Amino acid sequence: MKTLVVYYSRSGITRQVAEALARELGADLEEIAEPAKRAGVWGFLKSGREAFLKITPEINPGQRQPSDYDLVIVGTPVWANTMASPVRAWLTAHGSSLGKAAFFCTTASSGGEKTPRDMAALAGKNPLATAYFLEKKVKSGLVAEAVAALCAKLRQPAE
Ligand SMILES: Cc1cc2nc3c(=O)[nH]c(=O)nc-3n(C[C@H](O)[C@H](O)[C@H](O)COP(=O)(O)O)c2cc1C
Repeated sequence: MKTLVVYYSRSGITRQVAEALARELGADLEEIAEPAKRAGVWGFLKSGREAFLKITPEINPGQRQPSDYDLVIVGTPVWANTMASPVRAWLTAHGSSLGKAAFFCTTASSGGEKTPRDMAALAGKNPLATAYFLEKKVKSGLVAEAVAALCAKLRQPAE
C-alpha cells in the first residue's frame, strides 16, 4: 500500500512517532506547517484556545496529495483534550479525499483514546487503526513496541 504519514508537531514528540512509523512502513512523510508561530507561553495559550474553540487556523499548502495514497496516517498532539488546531484545519480540508485512514496522537496524559475518535469523526472515516503514545514514553525512547503494534494492525488485510 502506498502510504503517507501526515503530522503536526509543536515540540517534536509527534514528529518522533511519525518518523518512526514512516520508517517502519516505508511511507512518505509530510509535516503540517503554518504561517503562524506558536512558541512560548502566548503560543501555548493561543493553541489551547484554538483547540478548545475548534478553530481552524491557516495552514501552508502541502507538498503531497493525500488522494495519491492508499493509506494516510494522521498524527496530532493532544491539545485541550482533542486534536491540535492545525490538524483540525488539515482534516477539514482533506478528510473527504482520504482513502484508507488511521489516526494517532501523542499526549502528556489525557485525551489519548478520544482524540483519534474526534479525528475519525471529523474526516468521516472508519479508521483501519488508532493509537496513542504517551509523551513520557516517547522521550524515553520506549515506543518502538507500540509503533510496531500499530504497523502490524495496518498491514493486516482489510476484512
Ligand atoms: C496547547 C496545548 C494543550 C495541551 N493539552 C493537553 C491535554 O489536554 N491533555 C494532555 O494530556 N496533554 C496536553 N498537552 C500536552 C501535549 O499533548 C503533549 O506534550 C504532546 O506529546 C506534544 O506533542 P508535540 O511535541 O508533537 O507538539 C497540551 C499541549 C499543548 C501545547
